[in-house]
Amino acid sequence: MAKKEFLTIEGGVPLRGEVKVSGGKNAAVAIIPAALLADSPCVIENLPDVADVHVLADMLTWLGAGIEFKGDTLRIDPTTINRFDPPYELARKMRASYYLVPVLMSRFGRAHVPMPGGCDIGARPIDQTIKGWTMLGADVNTQGGVFNAVGEHLQGADVHLDMPSVGATVNTMLAAVFAEGNTNIHNAAKEPHIVDLANFLGSMGAWVKGAGTDTIRIRGGRPLHGSTYAVIPDQIETGTLMIAAAATGGDVVLTDTIPFHMEALSAKLLEMGVYVRDEDDRIHVRGGGSLRGINVKTQYYPGFPTDLQQPIVSMLSVAGGTSFVTENIFEARFRYVEELRRMGANIRVVDRVAIVEGVDKLTSAPVAATDLRAGAALVVAGLIAEGTTEISNAHFIRRGYENIDKKLRQLGARVEWSTRESDD
Ligand code: EPZ
Repeated sequence: MAKKEFLTIEGGVPLRGEVKVSGGKNAAVAIIPAALLADSPCVIENLPDVADVHVLADMLTWLGAGIEFKGDTLRIDPTTINRFDPPYELARKMRASYYLVPVLMSRFGRAHVPMPGGCDIGARPIDQTIKGWTMLGADVNTQGGVFNAVGEHLQGADVHLDMPSVGATVNTMLAAVFAEGNTNIHNAAKEPHIVDLANFLGSMGAWVKGAGTDTIRIRGGRPLHGSTYAVIPDQIETGTLMIAAAATGGDVVLTDTIPFHMEALSAKLLEMGVYVRDEDDRIHVRGGGSLRGINVKTQYYPGFPTDLQQPIVSMLSVAGGTSFVTENIFEARFRYVEELRRMGANIRVVDRVAIVEGVDKLTSAPVAATDLRAGAALVVAGLIAEGTTEISNAHFIRRGYENIDKKLRQLGARVEWSTRESDD
């Protein structure tokens, strides 16, 4: 029998109080590999204590880097790295393991990295990443499920992405800063973590302009030095907590946030009848009245994020009227809907659209998380449901949410994390 993790939630308590948002997972998993481009140690602050960060740190240790955690700060000494082939057992656990390919190429002229894992939310192609590296002159093949990349003397180039992919933008940026000459990444992703990575690279001495717009310009080949840098707050954790606060009819202030990153969600919550107010780096959310159903279409940033599609569907399942939620980014991101149905939600999925007929209440049931944000959706559902909901496969939730149980308890929720033997 294997050990399994469970999150148990006694629903029906409106969340109240103040809670601090942790550092961004998707920023952290790009910035930590980028530290290997430096010729001296980097200190990365405000890291979230989530599984993906620890897996990445383990991979860096395995590669020979010096790694030292102190609270939410990680010191990375890249000078002792002596391998370019992280092991499959670690690499398969997360998507961002392929961000190691360009940085290992910068040190060794080659990299041997197992293909990435990550959440099972439909096809996750990598053609744009390979195009980016190849345009800069790397020779890459993926035979045997491994990136074999060789690139001793990369040269800057114009790279036109077919879509603003986060992964391809990060991977091309990481290669372009050590390639000689100028690179322009057109149709680049504009997510806050892209801007954060650009700022970190800038703090190491790189010349990177335009991050946050459609075109990122990089003058490569500059020597990069170590730096001390604090990661931005996690906008998906912020959004999940905003939704949980509103859905439970609560009254919550989120601190250490960047409200500007949350505009797409805030607009949707206001449309539903929720009170949302920005106060410098704090966001005040108050639910309580009746919630109106709305339509949501996921898009690239600054549109509504696919990573909040699941949690908002849980909330819409108890809003008035019919909501249409269209998932435009990932093809299989509605798997959790079946679990919500067990809790009484009335949701049909037709192709890429979830049609949500609001019901009066959800009721507790044993449910299973199928991926990280599916887990977040079940947390929101458990918080609003009548009775006690047990979420199995809760380890998925730990991949991206720091101490979610403690944070929710701080807001008055009755939530417990447990690990026990299970033969499921
Ligand atoms: C990043 O995934 C995030 N992961 C995801 O976070 C997030 O859901 C996603 O961006 C979208 O915002 C990390 O940052 C580590 P993409 P990524 O490349 O980079 C298509 C979470 O829950 N595409 O921007 O894998 C692809 O099919 C997660 O924290 C290609 O066709 O996403 C998708 O439709 C899960 N070819 C779209 O682009 C490619 O070569 C966006 O994917 C690359 C992508």
